[in-house]
Amino acid sequence: MHTIIFATNNEHKIKEIQSLVGSDFTIITLEQAGIDIDIPEPHDTLQENAYEKAITIENMTQQNCFSEDTGLEIEALNGEPGVKSARYAGETRNFQANIDKVLEKLEGITNRKAQFRTVICLLWNKEVFYFEGICKGHIAETMHGKEGFGYDPIFQPANYKATFAELSMAEKNRIGHRGQAVAKLISYLNRH
Ligand code: IMP
Repeated sequence: MHTIIFATNNEHKIKEIQSLVGSDFTIITLEQAGIDIDIPEPHDTLQENAYEKAITIENMTQQNCFSEDTGLEIEALNGEPGVKSARYAGETRNFQANIDKVLEKLEGITNRKAQFRTVICLLWNKEVFYFEGICKGHIAETMHGKEGFGYDPIFQPANYKATFAELSMAEKNRIGHRGQAVAKLISYLNRH
């Protein structure tokens, strides 16, 4: 049984990833590892932020760990909010304020194409690996659904009428950005 630290404080992400990993690996959260820090995300790319989070935790613990950074990339907004997804409407990282800002910026715009992109950074025996997952879709006109978190109520994955917030966690994981990146991570870990 391998133990690996997931460098996040986000409860939703922990639940999603634990349900995907199954019993082959024990995922330890930062809280379980006794670490109480707000990990910095100062960079302009998901990849650099994911690395920063993972290396911060590896330096503190000397243990294998992984982190992930996710952004919602909207075509008509030149890829915004992208790497700024968490703080799009300000430092309070408020989900509703972020959604309101996106809907406001897209008012009257017919191109609603968007994608979620996740980059996972794995630090495994001091080596660095990256795994990416993308889910393409559209931004809805209004919010729908209560599941999930963040921009889920306004993101309709391709070929679905429902938003992510109207899907079960299992279904979101099956088609979603994080689920795809984690599947690649698990496949790598199972081979090593
Ligand atoms: P982070 O920087 O990777 O923690 O995520 C940035 C922001 O993107 C989060 O605060 C959420 O608002 C949003 N986000 C990340 N993943 C998802 C998702 O699966 N669904 C909806 N929003 C998400």
